[in-house]
Amino acid sequence: MKKIRQPIVTIAGHVDHGKTSILDYFRGSTVAAKEAGLITQKISFTCFPAENIKIRCANLLKKLNIDLVIPGFLFIDTPGHAAFTNLRKRGGSLADLAILVIDINEGIKPQTSEVIQILKANKVPFIVALNKIDNVSSWKKPKEKIPVKESLEKQSELVKSEFERKLYDIIGTLSLLKFEADLFWNIKDFTKQLALIPCSAKTGEGMEELIAMLAGLAQKFLQGKLELSDECKGTILEVRKDSKMTYIEAIIYDGKLKLNDNLIVASLENPIETKVRALFKALPLCKGFESAKEVEAASGLQLQLTNHDVLLGMPFVVCNNERKKEEIKKQLQKEISKKIRLDKEGIVIKTDSLGSLEALMYLLRQKNIEIIKASIGNITKQDIMSAYTNQKFNQLNSVILGFNVSLNEDEEKESSKLNVKIITGEVVYKIIENFEEWQKEKQRKIEREKLSELTLPFKIKLMKNCIFRQSKPAICGFQVLAGSLQSGKKLMNIKGEEIGRIKAVQSENKSVEKAEKGSEVAVSIPNVTIGRQIKEEEILYSNLTEEEFRKLKKNKNLLTQDEIKILQEIAKIKRKERLTWGV
Ligand code: GTP
Ligand code: MG
Repeated sequence: MKKIRQPIVTIAGHVDHGKTSILDYFRGSTVAAKEAGLITQKISFTCFPAENIKIRCANLLKKLNIDLVIPGFLFIDTPGHAAFTNLRKRGGSLADLAILVIDINEGIKPQTSEVIQILKANKVPFIVALNKIDNVSSWKKPKEKIPVKESLEKQSELVKSEFERKLYDIIGTLSLLKFEADLFWNIKDFTKQLALIPCSAKTGEGMEELIAMLAGLAQKFLQGKLELSDECKGTILEVRKDSKMTYIEAIIYDGKLKLNDNLIVASLENPIETKVRALFKALPLCKGFESAKEVEAASGLQLQLTNHDVLLGMPFVVCNNERKKEEIKKQLQKEISKKIRLDKEGIVIKTDSLGSLEALMYLLRQKNIEIIKASIGNITKQDIMSAYTNQKFNQLNSVILGFNVSLNEDEEKESSKLNVKIITGEVVYKIIENFEEWQKEKQRKIEREKLSELTLPFKIKLMKNCIFRQSKPAICGFQVLAGSLQSGKKLMNIKGEEIGRIKAVQSENKSVEKAEKGSEVAVSIPNVTIGRQIKEEEILYSNLTEEEFRKLKKNKNLLTQDEIKILQEIAKIKRKERLTWGV
C-alpha cells in the first residue's frame, strides 16, 4: 500500500477573527499573543500529528465513527487573507482542506466572502469555525468540559436567541454565496451542506469538535488523493534574498526532498534551475525548524537556493535526471501559460505572487474585464508604458491594478504625468470595486467631453455698470447664473430671439474658453449694440438648435441638475415660439 501524507489545511478568514488563536489552542501554544501588534505577519506551518488528534478527540471520533488513517494535519496559518491567495500548487489549491474562521459577532466580512469565492473556485472542501462564541453577550463558560452543543443548550434564553440571530445572519449570507450551511450537528450530508462549528479559541468550547469534523472531512473527501509518489513537488511561499543566496519557505506536497537536489522552478517566462544548498524542516506543533538531510511531504520547509530569480507562489519540481529536465520545463511552462491567458486589449495587473495573480485574474474574468499584461512584482516604468499605450485604443484601459505590491515615488510621478490610473490594495475585491468606480467616472467624463461639442445650456446676466464698449464688438460684464458659459456659442433672450454669438470670454484679463456658474467675466459680442438688443440686468440663455436640444435631452444623465433646469427653461421659451420642445 502506498504511503499517505497529511492533508494540508489552510486557516483562512478575516483579520483578527481568531485564526492563529485556534491553531494555538490546537497545539497548546501562545503564538498569537507573541506576534508583533498581535497580527500574523507571514505564513507559518504547523504539523499536527495524528496521535495528538487521537488523544484529544478520542470520544468524539468514536461517536462520529471516524477511524483516523491520516498521519495528521499540516496547518498553514496566513496573515489576514492576502497571503492566502498564494497557496497554490500545480493544478489547484495547495490546501486540501480549509477552516474558514468567522467571528460570530462580526459575521461575514468582504474578505471572508472573497476567501469563500476562492475556496469555491479551487474546489477546496472546508468547514466554518464560528469563533468567539464566548463574546456573545452574557455567554457563560461551562464549569466542566462539555460538548459545545450542550454548552449552547445550557445558556439562558436571551443568550440563545442572540446566538441564533447571529447564526441566521451568517447562514443567510452564505446562502447568497450559494452555500447551504447549518450547525454541524444538524448536517445530514457533508457533501452538500457546509458545517458550522460554534467555538471559542479562548474557552476551548467546540475546539475538539472542530478537529474531529476536520478529520471527518479529510476521510470523506481525500480518499486516494493523499498517496505519495516518487516525484517531489512543492510551492514557494516566501522569498528572501541577500547578495549571494536566496532563502525561501516552501511546502512540499508530494515525494521527498533531499539536500543538493536540483529544482526546476516555474517562472512567468522560462523555468529556472536551482540547487538546494541547505534544508530545514518545520518541527511539529510550531516549535521552529531543524536542519535536515531529507524531508517527506507534506511538510513546511526553509531552503537555501543558488538562484536569485525565484518568484513567490511558483510551483517547483525536483529533477536530478538531466534527460528529463527539458520535458519538465516544458510542462511547467505550459501550465503557467495556460493560467496566465492574456487578451489582445485590456488592463495591466501586478501582484506579489503567482497565486494572487491567478486569483485576481479569476475574479476579473468573472466580470468580463480583459487583461493585456499580467506579472509578478512591484509596478515598474514598463508597466506604466504598457498601460499608457492603451490610451490610444481605449482610455478606460489605461490603468494598472496592483495587489499587494508597491509603487515608488518615481513611478507614481510618471503615471500621473502620463495619465495612467494606478489602483493598489490588499483586498482583491476592493481593488476591483475601486476600478469599476473609476471606469464609470471616466466613462462619464468621456461622454461629457463629447457633449461639450454641442452648446450646453447656460444662463447669464448682464451686470449693472459693467459696459466697457457699446458696440463693434460690444464688451460687457456678465455673471454666470447657471451652467457654464462657453466662448463661440450663440445667445438668446427670454423671448427666444437670437442675440449674436459670443466671440471671446475674459476672466481676470485672461482669455478663457469657459466660465462656470458664479463667475463674473467680460464677454465680447459682435453685431450687437448694448442698449438696443440687450439692456443692463437682462438675462440671456444659450441658444440651442432643436437638434442640440434633443441630443442633450437624450444624455440628460450627463447633465447637472442645474443644467437640466435651464434646459427646461429654454424649452419653455422655445415652446412659446410655437416649437414643440419638451424636457
Ligand atoms: P491575523 O493573523 O492578524 O489575521 O489575526 P487572527 O485571525 O490570527 O486573530 P488572532 O488569533 O491573532 O486573534 C485576534 C484577537 O482575538 C486576539 O486578541 C485574540 O486573543 C482574540 N481571540 C481569538 N479567538 C478568540 C475567542 O474565541 N474569544 C475571544 N474572546 N477572543 C478571541
Ligand atoms: Mg493570525
